[in-house]
Amino acid sequence: MPSVVIERSLFWSDGALLDDPQVVSFAKVMATVAPDGHGGKLLSAWFHRFATTPHSERALPAQFIDQVVAAQGADPSRWDLSTLPFKVTGLHSRMDLADLSPQGHCGEFRVSVASTDVTLQPFHVLFLFRQPLLPGDTHDGQVTCEQTARAWADLSTLDGAALNERLKLAFAQAMTRERFLLLETVEFTLAPWEWRQWVKAADPSGQLPFVLENPPLFQQVDVEGLNAPGPRRDEFLAWVEANADLLDARRQAIPERFRAPSVRVTQGIPRPPLSLDGLDAGTLARLPDLRANVELVGCAACHTADAEFVQTKADRTVSPFYEKELKARATHLEAMARGERPVAPFGPLQQTPKLPP
Ligand code: HEC
Repeated sequence: MPSVVIERSLFWSDGALLDDPQVVSFAKVMATVAPDGHGGKLLSAWFHRFATTPHSERALPAQFIDQVVAAQGADPSRWDLSTLPFKVTGLHSRMDLADLSPQGHCGEFRVSVASTDVTLQPFHVLFLFRQPLLPGDTHDGQVTCEQTARAWADLSTLDGAALNERLKLAFAQAMTRERFLLLETVEFTLAPWEWRQWVKAADPSGQLPFVLENPPLFQQVDVEGLNAPGPRRDEFLAWVEANADLLDARRQAIPERFRAPSVRVTQGIPRPPLSLDGLDAGTLARLPDLRANVELVGCAACHTADAEFVQTKADRTVSPFYEKELKARATHLEAMARGERPVAPFGPLQQTPKLPP
């Protein structure tokens, strides 16, 4: 089994691939995920939605769409999305997100994009695609993701033109409409920084097959809301008490009712920590990092513990945090390609991540 080379098997930032519109581009990805095979209408609805969600209203994306209308006309289905100021910053294979339970999957393939517009900035989008189980991903009735892992790991034995040809095939297979899961954003179009996820939802106006909506953020506790006294906080503390060990090990899924549809962090000001006051004193003494681990699995703490808000920057370099993740993911992928079933916690994969302050 080859040892995994990060820039061949896990993360791609080479301009020869990322700037080739045949391989990937913002326009190509939008056309792939949108039901009309174009993406203009979905983009327009999505950017307008930033300004109307009850939990947070941000005007700049909609204003950006006004500029596109001025330049390219009022019909989004006729826009040339390839002329819009967006740059692909990286392609990411996330075998470490595999779910090895019987009905599981082999993680995700992700495309990160940054806006290069002078006003709509910093504004980063992540497109998430599912990696489904293939026939060789099950061994003796157990899900291993062995075949999918081996396909990515084997790329480490190639280089030059042979590598790029194989990569183009792998990327085309990974980025399809059927495999599209959701989008994520991290942006600072208005202070403070904000994170959201965008999932498919029915269009209230009935015009589009689907629009994009903000669900409760995956694994992000609603710190602000849960710090406020009341029955929701009481219920949360009881739940933390009951699941303290799993939460401390970052192995517990957080129920939707304790999560928020967006989260914000003010640059230069320490993030107010989650309060666990009132939890059993013995539990707090036994698990001194419990609060930090509950927070670290969420968007805000993970993007600020060892990174400055953004992990894959507009210039295609990565944060110190992401560098360490990639090393841990290489070891993880090697184990999966050998047919082992390594278990990843929620949040960082690296052994001793910096804990949120
Ligand atoms: C484990 C820590 C961690 C958590 C938790 C996390 N991210 Fe990230 N995020 C990363 C890393 C590392 C990348 C680089 C791509 C990858 O690894 O998938 C990234 C990439 C991104 C990007 C592309 C721009 C960039 O910073 O590279 C967006 C947008 C994003 N994440 C949003 C979110 C949202 C929204 C959440 C919460 C639902 C979230 N992230 C949770 C670590 C994290």
